[in-house]
Amino acid sequence: MPSSDNRRLSVTRVDVSKGHEAEFHAIATQFAAILSQKEYGRSVVVADEAEPLRFYSVHHWNGVASAELCHGDPEVQALTARLYQIARVTHVVNGVRRPEMMKLLLEDRRARVEADRRTGFDRRMKDLGRHEGDRRKSSDRRLGPRRLRDRPGEVDLIAAARRAREHADAAFSHFKVGAALETADGEVITGCNIENATYGLTICAERVAMFKALSEGHRAFVRIAVVADTEAPTPPCGACRQILWEFAGNIEILLANLQTSKGSYRLKDLLPLPFDARLL
Ligand code: THU
Repeated sequence: MPSSDNRRLSVTRVDVSKGHEAEFHAIATQFAAILSQKEYGRSVVVADEAEPLRFYSVHHWNGVASAELCHGDPEVQALTARLYQIARVTHVVNGVRRPEMMKLLLEDRRARVEADRRTGFDRRMKDLGRHEGDRRKSSDRRLGPRRLRDRPGEVDLIAAARRAREHADAAFSHFKVGAALETADGEVITGCNIENATYGLTICAERVAMFKALSEGHRAFVRIAVVADTEAPTPPCGACRQILWEFAGNIEILLANLQTSKGSYRLKDLLPLPFDARLL
């Protein structure tokens, strides 16, 4: 058996689409079986008492290497792909990062994710809501998928966006844009605009960054920086605002050019009456 200090814990929040609960349990059972057969570790599912469609999948890895092998296992990847079809998956604790990332996770990430008064014991025992007079009315919607505290900002996101901009492929507009998206656990995922001869298939830097991040399993974001070489700041276009809203919620948006910062905004101010899945 590996020594206990080599063990690692990960927790994933799984919000299952209505009607797919049985399939979720089947996937979770198969996943747990693979973990134990291949000696990657153990996995248990804990149901959220307050939310019927919410589960926490707790993985006890036999070590960082086991977790990495598991993530690369085609059988596991096939199961994960099925899970993503029927559930929204959010990585709450990732205990299999290399040691320097552990520091970020424990000190930084947990401190930044605010308690959500709608779930668990907090919901019943504490009133963490806004003050009287500043409360949402029944028709008001909660902003964004997750509540995250403002970041202290140790990462130079603007510098990352400037570097990403160098890779822009803007042969038609000659307007190069770079973006850098910061995840809740402190990772930075960059993007640049990519154009093509049909023009219409152009994709903006912000969406490249977001889709890269989503495709790598990130689901919680805190800030995005957008950089262009213009005096006036370049805010995200309408399509990017929509995508950012749906996947990152009320994220902070930093605008800058090559020399200086051009301000910081919140997405709800750039997209004040958003359409999203809650209206479907
Ligand atoms: N563009 C972005 O990448 N992000 C923005 O926020 C605005 C526009 C790109 C798309 C296109 O390649 C070029 O800039 C001109 O519109």
